[in-house]
Amino acid sequence: MVEQIKQYMETSWLRDDIIYAESMDSTNKQAKMIGEENVMREGLVVAEEQTAGRGRRGRDWVSPKGNCYFSLLLRPAVKPEHAARITLVAALALTKALVKITGLHVQIKWPNDIVVHGKKLCGILTESSMDTNGLKYVVVGVGVNVNQEMFDKSIDDMATSIFCQTGQKVACAQVIGEFLNFFEDAYALFVQTEDVSAFVECYNQMLVNYNQEVRIVDQNERVAVALGINERGELLVRDAEGCVEAILSGEVSVRGMYGYV
Ligand code: BTN
Repeated sequence: MVEQIKQYMETSWLRDDIIYAESMDSTNKQAKMIGEENVMREGLVVAEEQTAGRGRRGRDWVSPKGNCYFSLLLRPAVKPEHAARITLVAALALTKALVKITGLHVQIKWPNDIVVHGKKLCGILTESSMDTNGLKYVVVGVGVNVNQEMFDKSIDDMATSIFCQTGQKVACAQVIGEFLNFFEDAYALFVQTEDVSAFVECYNQMLVNYNQEVRIVDQNERVAVALGINERGELLVRDAEGCVEAILSGEVSVRGMYGYV
């Protein structure tokens, strides 16, 4: 697997810092442990299956063999409050990689789901740690449904895989290698600016929420129209009265997706 990933990588970055195991509890958990230890500066943790994969909001990420599970351990010199923006940079790089590999109309559901035909193809879980000097590390964990042939009835109308969409099996090593090729320069640019100003236009072009009615589910649930992201990676939405607000985080549902009708 490691040699195969390297074959697809056009970059020397992280080439010698890949940790691989056929089975792991969670690549994010392992990457965070390495991040705490300070032995490795940056690296890539990859597994073919996870026994305790984790999703956002404490959910499980069911991780059978055939799909792609990896985590990047990064130590960007940015303010801790800006670290979460890396998620958007990763989502964009992953979308570009998946379009290149599959030709599918892959889109981003802000902030970090990758969808195709209204169903979720990938999820990203970014976690960070701080110490007295500021940001200690960031772990960007990515799960891509690659070769899964069917999904549990309970999520069948919300989840999909590359195989379900194309009928083709794809090497996970290719997904990881191509992702890194798109991510490397974008990440360097993010570290320079600490914002996503360089990616706003491109990100909004790939945004499934763009000009769509969205439901914002935080303290007070409301409906608005999404106008795209700003340079801080916030989602701008306009309500029925024409007021524009920036949503920083929280659950956003898009009409027509994941069962929202
Ligand atoms: C989501 O809830 O959408 C995010 C899912 C992130 C899953 C990936 S799989 C690799 C990495 N390790 C984990 O335990 N989670 C992330």
